[in-house]
Amino acid sequence: MKVAFILLILCAWLPYYGGRSVIDKPTTDSLSRNNDWPVYGGNQAGNRYSPLTQITRQNVRNLQLAWTFDTGENANPAERGMDIQCQPIVVDGVLYGTTPRLKLFAVDAATGQQRWRFDPFADPAKKPRFHPVRGVMYWADGNDKRILYSVGASLYAINAVTGEPIKSFGTNGEVDLHDGLGNEQTMGHEMASLSIRSTTPGVIYKDLVIMGSSVSEGGDAPPGHIRAFNVRTGKLAWVFRTVPLPGDYGYDTWPKEAYKKIGGANCWAGMVVDEKRGIVYAGTGSPSVDFYGGDRAGQNLFANCVIALDAKTGKRVWHFQTVHHDLWDRDIPCPPNLITVTHKGPDGRPRQVEAVAQATKDGYVFVFDRDTGKPLFPVHEVPVSTSPALPGEQPWPTQPVPTKPAPFCLQEVTEATLTTRTPEARDYVLNRFRNSRQGSKYVPPSEEGSLLLGIGGGAEWGGTAASPDGIFYVNSNNMLWWLKMRDSRTQSNGVAQTRGSSLFNTNCSVCHGLSGNENMAAKNNQAYPDLTNIGKRLDREQIHTLLTTGRGRMPSFSHIAKEDRDAIINFLLNTETKPAATNSASVDIHNGVPEGVANAKTDFPYKPPYINNGNIQFRDQDGYPAVKQPWGTLNAIDLNTGEYKWQIPLGEYPELVKKGLPHTGTENHGGPVVTAGDLLFIAATYDEKLRAFDRRNGKLIWEHKLPAGGFATPITYSVRGRQYVAIAAGGTRYGLKSGGSYVAFALPVAARK
Ligand code: HEC
Repeated sequence: MKVAFILLILCAWLPYYGGRSVIDKPTTDSLSRNNDWPVYGGNQAGNRYSPLTQITRQNVRNLQLAWTFDTGENANPAERGMDIQCQPIVVDGVLYGTTPRLKLFAVDAATGQQRWRFDPFADPAKKPRFHPVRGVMYWADGNDKRILYSVGASLYAINAVTGEPIKSFGTNGEVDLHDGLGNEQTMGHEMASLSIRSTTPGVIYKDLVIMGSSVSEGGDAPPGHIRAFNVRTGKLAWVFRTVPLPGDYGYDTWPKEAYKKIGGANCWAGMVVDEKRGIVYAGTGSPSVDFYGGDRAGQNLFANCVIALDAKTGKRVWHFQTVHHDLWDRDIPCPPNLITVTHKGPDGRPRQVEAVAQATKDGYVFVFDRDTGKPLFPVHEVPVSTSPALPGEQPWPTQPVPTKPAPFCLQEVTEATLTTRTPEARDYVLNRFRNSRQGSKYVPPSEEGSLLLGIGGGAEWGGTAASPDGIFYVNSNNMLWWLKMRDSRTQSNGVAQTRGSSLFNTNCSVCHGLSGNENMAAKNNQAYPDLTNIGKRLDREQIHTLLTTGRGRMPSFSHIAKEDRDAIINFLLNTETKPAATNSASVDIHNGVPEGVANAKTDFPYKPPYINNGNIQFRDQDGYPAVKQPWGTLNAIDLNTGEYKWQIPLGEYPELVKKGLPHTGTENHGGPVVTAGDLLFIAATYDEKLRAFDRRNGKLIWEHKLPAGGFATPITYSVRGRQYVAIAAGGTRYGLKSGGSYVAFALPVAARK
């Protein structure tokens, strides 16, 4: 009886302790020595919460730099990797993370001294591929201690003590993330050549490592099936098909043959696992292609869903779709968060509910009962505009809107919500605005073009935090996007296309804008570089390297034929010799396979009739967001009541502060962490600072300029009784300076008590 009672307490408390690995339960001894940050998101529940109390609201002002770990990468611009989006983990006083060039490392978490480093590209046969790696996983059974992490299409198991691959896992320590995708979709085409990677770590449940994926958003996207592998052997254990096959639940939410060509619906943003229930909760992204759904009429399950799966078998327990038939790239952008709140029960009395909260790109927080998927705050199906839509398109007539909490980011663009930064900025933006279509955030994409919110977050990959009292913390962006569609079979701007320019339009325009297209990409789109006159900055060799390796949010294009890459480069450098094609029929504009492979036998790769003009952010003439500030916010929402505790602007631009415009908020990338010391730590802003807020009222207490922008989520942990706060400072985004270090802060020894 007594034992059972203690166990019960322990169970209730463990999720918040941030308990160590599943296998390796904490001992009393280890508690007094260390308090780890053993999983991505802090604990299995994904709360980004720490029970540590050494650093408090009173003493946080005394925080000092405790150590810096310089990866040595990113110093030389020519050898730059990418920004470090990694939230590291700490197990038994060792911190594991990744470098800008995607190496895995282990350092002493108290000193920053390196223990070992693993290079996934050590084998010269392996082409480097750079993409975000947001974290790593730890698993242990006795002395068998492993770090699992993923680069390119490989999932690696690395010995946590030595940094050597575990040869018995998969093939020499690697599992191919194409495993288990099936070939139903790409009949006649090599699935293995399609681009897949996992930017966010999976989750560990007992002896399984459960993985999502990040896939192309174009017609060559593989399906985003969620898969589990045996953590000891790397053997495929189960597959949950997010694009259902005939006979699967959800198959009837698509046209009959859609599964043969449509991919995506992938969980790129991460998941969490409820060990007690044996349920894994995952959020999925939109189906491919993002902005045209004419060939995928229907609700499109399991795209844009929060899905609860039996962690042992991969069987669906429940699902909830947050956007039906997505036409706006409104992926679930961050992992679900397992919280406990007090809500009225069926008898009208308050009761504790174990819930799962999901924030979205367009500012909603959905809160569900973890067992049933029933929303705790009612969700209404609201009628939305369905016209004018592109030919063949059938927008879904309703979309789910939670009654509470109120959205945490802008929902509607009107003249009143446009910038007032300067009269010139307002004129500039108003002019564009009046010449574009605007309206609800559910306006279907059109050739005319529209201004839209919610293509990017809102909430983003940095994730959300929650404290045990049911308060939910989310940072957010207010950004407007310009979405304009074009008929992919005809020419852009009526200019006859060359092979290179049409290949460019198919492969590159989604980010860089259509070739020869005078649009807003050119001047005011800082997220994706303008490639006009790229030849002045980069030579053939440099562009070729970039196309094979990828960099930052630019994917690798090593999967397309070399002659196609050459044609694109020729087009960019204005050195195309091949005659211009006079009509699209003579040009294989839908790349992704060598010509002749995409034959009549298969619909794959899918050739959408409409493509978009690029993911273009709408900014004023000086590059600031076109909407009124705040451009970035930090929000604390009480999920017991659905009411806001506070909302504040997050970050500021030093040059605007000088002009008398403080507290504008900046775009922000990277999430918050909360502690039992009543603090919230977050970096993420363009002013390159790490900040500590009073989590109860949003008051800024401490800030510190990082060596480079901290576009990552911090962690906090203790080693031998000393609490640290650490974060990656990789900079590199949007013209900000590069960095390649991790930094950790702690209180000076005397100030700790
Ligand atoms: C998913 C979005 C995306 C796609 C698709 C994409 N790019 Fe990029 N590209 C980027 C981003 C982001 C950068 C900036 C990368 C960085 O430095 O962090 C970039 C950078 C570049 C640069 C270097 C620009 C400079 O000023 O240094 C070139 C050249 C380039 N891309 C060419 C291409 C070509 C050619 C394609 C198609 C084959 C392509 N990109 C497809 C996002 C994309």
